[in-house]
Amino acid sequence: MCGIIGYCGSRSATRLLLSGLKRLEYRGYDSAGIGVVHENALQLYKKAGKIETLQSIVPDELEGNWGIGHNRWATHGEVNDINAHPHTDCTGKIAICHNGIIENCESLRNRLEIEGHRFSSQTDSEVIAHLVESFYEGNLEFALKATVSLLEGTYGILAISVDNPRQIVGARNGSPMIIAIADNEKFIASDVSAVLAHAKQVIYLEDGEVASINPDNYEISDVRNRSIDKKIEIISLELKEMEKGNYSHYMLKEIHEQTDSISRALKGRIDEKQATALLVGLNMSETELLAVKRITITAAGTSFYAARVVAYLLEKIARIPTTTELSSELRYRNPVVERGTLYIAVSQSGETIDTLMAVQELQRKGAPVLSVSNVVGSSIARESHGGIYIHSGPEIAVASTKAFTNQLAAMYMFALKMARMRHMAWSEGKKFIKNLSNLSDKIGEILKNADKIEQLARKYSGAKNFLFLGRGINFPVALEGALKLKEVAYIHAEGYSAAEIKHGPIALINSRTPSIFLVSDDHLYSKVLTSMKEVKVRNGPVIAISTERNEQISRIADDVFQIPKAEEDFYPFLMVIPLQLFAYYCALELGCDVDQPRNLAKSVTVE
Ligand code: F6R
Repeated sequence: MCGIIGYCGSRSATRLLLSGLKRLEYRGYDSAGIGVVHENALQLYKKAGKIETLQSIVPDELEGNWGIGHNRWATHGEVNDINAHPHTDCTGKIAICHNGIIENCESLRNRLEIEGHRFSSQTDSEVIAHLVESFYEGNLEFALKATVSLLEGTYGILAISVDNPRQIVGARNGSPMIIAIADNEKFIASDVSAVLAHAKQVIYLEDGEVASINPDNYEISDVRNRSIDKKIEIISLELKEMEKGNYSHYMLKEIHEQTDSISRALKGRIDEKQATALLVGLNMSETELLAVKRITITAAGTSFYAARVVAYLLEKIARIPTTTELSSELRYRNPVVERGTLYIAVSQSGETIDTLMAVQELQRKGAPVLSVSNVVGSSIARESHGGIYIHSGPEIAVASTKAFTNQLAAMYMFALKMARMRHMAWSEGKKFIKNLSNLSDKIGEILKNADKIEQLARKYSGAKNFLFLGRGINFPVALEGALKLKEVAYIHAEGYSAAEIKHGPIALINSRTPSIFLVSDDHLYSKVLTSMKEVKVRNGPVIAISTERNEQISRIADDVFQIPKAEEDFYPFLMVIPLQLFAYYCALELGCDVDQPRNLAKSVTVE
């Protein structure tokens, strides 16, 4: 979603802002802009489209060593040059960039127009520029604080004024923001990836904080002008982890990385001797964990499907009643929070607004909330009582792949710990650990056959509709497979429990609607086979992802893709890999923008 960056120092701001915006583009955007100040003049360049389009209108040697930049993901107002950020006040001396949504923008705009302010865009964000103008009497920080006291909604705002040389002021509420510190220069951005090439020391701002930076200094305070002391943290992320390497797309790279990323999730967290998991980040004692009577896992999108897989597992091996709920629903539902219920929020980015708001609502009700997140220092990770980092490494492609398997790995370890504290015997724990440790090799086996999935994609990518069908613990994986295909190849796909097709979706079956069946050799094997037959006799093309190419399956399915055998609870890790590859290769066949699919954002920080 929107990305934001500000720079003040002695180097060319233009170059740094543009390269920072390029690093932020993985979040998803539709237009971009920069505002750079030189000799008391604000030079503004904004363009709908990709950063390259913006770059083409920015003069090569644009002078100035402080300014702000923004990638916009449209919410209020169509995608065009005028609606792109930065936005300016009536004098053209003040410029702002904004991430988030201002919910009371209509009333603020009416009031400002009555006061004589002239608006040029359709955005909610422009009210911020005019509000700052209305409060500005030489002190930009004061003007921004007065402004945010009137705003309802979410924001990460950067503001500059040509009359306050080399100063950038930022404010945060619900939209991430960091300050990056280097010698004689400072950055302020929505995401560390924008500054990683230049600085390793960062400060994470919290909601309600306002920062003022200049090349030599920074100050953080709240809206009541109380100064706040913040810890400087060191980013351990390396720039090369964010590069595409020899892969043609980040998505393909991230799919292939899963052999390594899954091992990273397990590293240092397995207690072989006691046959359990070591998860110190949970911040919960054994006694507290033993007192857990129920678990609710909340998340969105792919993270939600990972949660649904784990709900099956927790109930099965730890015998803890576990439910899952979309964070967007939970946050507005006034949930009943009972003593003994543990909540887990799952979010790759750690910034998804619905999940963050659900965490805050649950905490207001006194619930303990753990997080399962990828991004160290992200809002959800910081605001929860404890949690598990999934360590999948940066996920740049918009479509989530390696985060899904690492979310599973992290939560499988949690389930192991909970199970070992209850009914699971030591020997069972040992077996569970062995199965987890074997996953990397099995995923590697599947990836060696990626070309077979490519052939299937060639054969089937012309279809307009797909069904993804699985049962039991593989049912959420079918949902994830359908989501991947929709996201990156723009093909309509539905995920269903294979048993459910008779209750409606079977009406869709014809020779042009392929069904992808997840057939594992578990207790539901024969049931899935029956559903496959029901599709086949109605002329539906059948693709089976199966653990063996036995005669029974081959007789029914038009195509079979074989995955290694595993214990039944571990199939979700394996079943999902061919589905990720299938979505990728279909997207490639259809000429889609694989890494940045239309309309999508990596980190959904607005409602
Ligand atoms: C799917 C995808 C989205 C995210 C969802 C939640 O490929 O990327 O569905 O899973 O937006 O994002 P996080 O996990 O960052 O909370």
